[in-house]
Amino acid sequence: MAATLKPHERIFAALDTTDVGRAREWAEALKGHIGGVKIGKEFFTANGPDGVHRVVECGLPLFLDLKFHDIPNTVAGAIRASLALRPLIVNVHAGGGRRMMEAAAKAADEAQAGARPSVIGVTVLTSMARDDLAEVGVDEEPLEQVLRLARLAKGSGLDGVVCSAKEVVALRGSVGRDFLLVVPGIRPQWAGADDQKRVVTPRDAVDLGADYLVIGRPITGHKDPAEAARLIAEELAGAK
Ligand code: C5P
Repeated sequence: MAATLKPHERIFAALDTTDVGRAREWAEALKGHIGGVKIGKEFFTANGPDGVHRVVECGLPLFLDLKFHDIPNTVAGAIRASLALRPLIVNVHAGGGRRMMEAAAKAADEAQAGARPSVIGVTVLTSMARDDLAEVGVDEEPLEQVLRLARLAKGSGLDGVVCSAKEVVALRGSVGRDFLLVVPGIRPQWAGADDQKRVVTPRDAVDLGADYLVIGRPITGHKDPAEAARLIAEELAGAK
């Protein structure tokens, strides 16, 4: 679990666009109202590290969501390369196994003093149902596989996992408090669900035990993104 966070510091705004100008506008508007921005494969593939740098040069912390999954040496190299962007959080697929995750954690240790990113794992993609897991040879309920991979991630030296709000309670029971849980699929009551199927409010996610919340369209699709973030932080101020 993250050390005591101010309510707004729990919010990571997902900047899902390929447009550097738009992402910069969002970042500038949101600075001071959120904990950081999440930038993923779509933006990164279009704009590379320079594009990411242009978005976070305003000083907002970065969750670099590139979900690395490769042989240990290659993942370690990718994590090492990402350190130039000084991310607060980077991630890898826990399915890459113990040696891959250990290599990722060790590469993160090479960050400058005070700049080591948290390395978190992606367990089972929420787009995968039981049948999809069976097709790739995993004859388990998704939650069982999530818990298995989260324990492996913790045992391999990772700092947390990305998970859905509905997995938070079981994960806390399994991996304890001292492990970051980063949760997407969040919708304040005043926002529409978009294409998210099972949504949880910011307040409920934190009450359940989430550390960071990844929130995209309720913020970036709002006519005043800073106001949306402010409303969410206000809601979180009442959380347990
Ligand atoms: O706009 P919205 O709040 O739905 O954006 C959520 C962000 O979190 C997107 O970047 C999406 O790809 C990501 N995400 C998710 N569900 C997951 C994992 C990641 O929505 N299970």
